[in-house]
Amino acid sequence: MAERSESSESSVSARSSKRIAVIPGDGVGKEVIPEAVRVLKAAAAKGRRELGLTEFDWGADRYLRDGTTLPSDAIEMFRRDFDAILLGALGDGRVPDNRHAADILLGLRFKLDLYANERPCVLFDPKLSPLKNRSEKEINFCVIRENTEGLYAGMGGVFKKGTADEIATQEDVNTRKGVERIVRYAFEFARRRRLRRVCMSDKSNALTFGHNLWTRVFAEVRREYAEIESSHMYIDNLLLQMVRDPSQFQVIVTCNLFGDIASDLGAGLIGGLGLAPSANIHPEQVSLFEPVHGSAPDIAGKNIANPMGAALAAAMMCEYLGWAGEAKAIEDAVRAAIREGKTTVDLGGSLGTRELGDWLTARVAS
Ligand SMILES: NC(=O)c1ccc[n+]([C@@H]2O[C@H](COP(=O)([O-])OP(=O)(O)OC[C@H]3O[C@@H](n4cnc5c(N)ncnc54)[C@H](O)[C@@H]3O)[C@@H](O)[C@H]2O)c1
Repeated sequence: MAERSESSESSVSARSSKRIAVIPGDGVGKEVIPEAVRVLKAAAAKGRRELGLTEFDWGADRYLRDGTTLPSDAIEMFRRDFDAILLGALGDGRVPDNRHAADILLGLRFKLDLYANERPCVLFDPKLSPLKNRSEKEINFCVIRENTEGLYAGMGGVFKKGTADEIATQEDVNTRKGVERIVRYAFEFARRRRLRRVCMSDKSNALTFGHNLWTRVFAEVRREYAEIESSHMYIDNLLLQMVRDPSQFQVIVTCNLFGDIASDLGAGLIGGLGLAPSANIHPEQVSLFEPVHGSAPDIAGKNIANPMGAALAAAMMCEYLGWAGEAKAIEDAVRAAIREGKTTVDLGGSLGTRELGDWLTARVAS
């Protein structure tokens, strides 16, 4: 049975209330998620929204204590009882094979079929970019990463492990259904936001089977979206172009691995991983929101992790729940903090994680 502790905010079962599962996870996840939750509560209270929060203690500590990763009833419970999940990060050096992280994070993404991973990269302030003289207009795009297939599907194996003859394989799984739905998702995403450009990136010149499927599917689907300019770039060129001239991109759609890498580069262009949020979406079903960063063991426990990525993930969750005003209030607070120099050290400021959480919460509540 999934173990949970409920906050007293409001009844999870009340119809009008939104029911959120909170999984802080490991490392800095346990520091930034409490701050994001405080900011979320302030936004909900201001908008007179009902919020039911339930926290789950899944992560390395729990795994090492009693072996729990993702309980067998968790997926059914999330589908039945929750509107969204807010997650921190998973990863801990005491679990070298990362077993708990794979079970929990990939388990949720795969078993809830959260096939679209939205990773927006928006430059809130020119001073945050390592690129010179760039404005928000010039760095404002979203990486849409396929989230359930590719090299993350867990297919493969090891033969003669630990010997000189060892063979390790990791298979790249690309299904017609999976590629088509993510490409369509990217075009629909652009259409909803009145964006004009979608770029699909693959490596079909070298991966002539799996990625050729991407090329063919993209050529078909783009015909249904004649009003949107669609283009193709090989992944190596895409990464170069993102640094050279990021203004050419609005929506980038790509496979699981390339999306993971391209979105970290995107985060680098806007001020770093501490600022980058993401959404793992299955339309019209419980979906999961998290900062892009990992558990950051190098800074964990020091009260210096930036909680903005987690707060912006909460804002993406509000948007998904139909709370546009609350989403905007959180994003505005983050923008104001950056403008006024109220930041953690990664962005050049001197506030701690909790102190920045205090500031953002007060700003949202004001
Ligand atoms: N979604 C996830 O749960 C997720 C994602 C990536 C990595 N991981 C795991 O996290 C662990 C550490 O991985 P990593 O070091 O490659 O990536 P990481 O994202 O944890 O850290 C990369 C760099 O970014 C910095 N950073 C990360 N979050 C920050 C924040 N909020 N504020 C300021 N700086 C921040 C770190 O200090 C580090 O220098 C590993 O176990 C990895 O498997 C988990």
